[in-house]
Amino acid sequence: MRLAAVGDLHVKKSSQGQLQPLLAAVNDHADVLLLCGDLTDYGLKEEATILARELTAAVRIPIVAVLGNHDYESGQPEEVVRILTEAGVKVLDGEAHEIRGVGIAGAKGFSGGFGRATLGAWGEPATKRFVQEALDEAIKLEGALARLRTESRIALLHYSPVRMTVEGEPEEIMTFLGTSRLEEPINRHPVDMVFHGHAHHGSLEGRTSAGIPVYNVAMPLLLQKFPGRPPFRVVEVSAAPTSETAGINQPPIGSAATGTENG
Ligand SMILES: [Fe+2]
Ligand SMILES: [Fe+2]
Repeated sequence: MRLAAVGDLHVKKSSQGQLQPLLAAVNDHADVLLLCGDLTDYGLKEEATILARELTAAVRIPIVAVLGNHDYESGQPEEVVRILTEAGVKVLDGEAHEIRGVGIAGAKGFSGGFGRATLGAWGEPATKRFVQEALDEAIKLEGALARLRTESRIALLHYSPVRMTVEGEPEEIMTFLGTSRLEEPINRHPVDMVFHGHAHHGSLEGRTSAGIPVYNVAMPLLLQKFPGRPPFRVVEVSAAPTSETAGINQPPIGSAATGTENG
């Protein structure tokens, strides 16, 4: 089964009509479209409605999504979820979803840093709450993965579980681009591959410490690295052992940068 993945669409009130030409090619090149959060720019109902319209008009394959931090900005992520769900998008927040024998576990994730630089739950209550949020998201992902009985398993995130795919971003903001706490359940279960976004200026590919492929599919990154090509990554997964193929799609279509600077 061919999976197309992209994150960080950052749909704005002015985005009407802009996404359709970018995503129309997905129908010919993939069987499922995965959306890795920051679907809207401010988490507004108007933005979600525009996105729902664009997806309905352009995409004829199943769509599975997680939200990103931008989708929370207006304090009504449940409205974003409702509008997308009504448009047929399966939005995961610690849930698992199966399509044709492939299991997808989705959660937004959170930040907190990587490796030895991972923020610890120590000191002020605010620091402990921050770390608890990351732990809670890791537990959500773990729960979703544990429910999957499929041979092939995919982890769908907004934040990165590894440092490798956020390399290229300023050193000062690494802590806010993801956390190794998300890597533990991914290695433990283990999944076939991970897709995430959020790091607009990160790196395309990395691996977890257990060797699981991790793809950063933030749209601004894909547009920058593969100019003139459709802004989604296509990777093949089978019910048997996983085989990675092609990478980015071949047929060129017009590109239009839609990213923002702040993840
Ligand atoms: Fe983000
Ligand atoms: Fe983003």
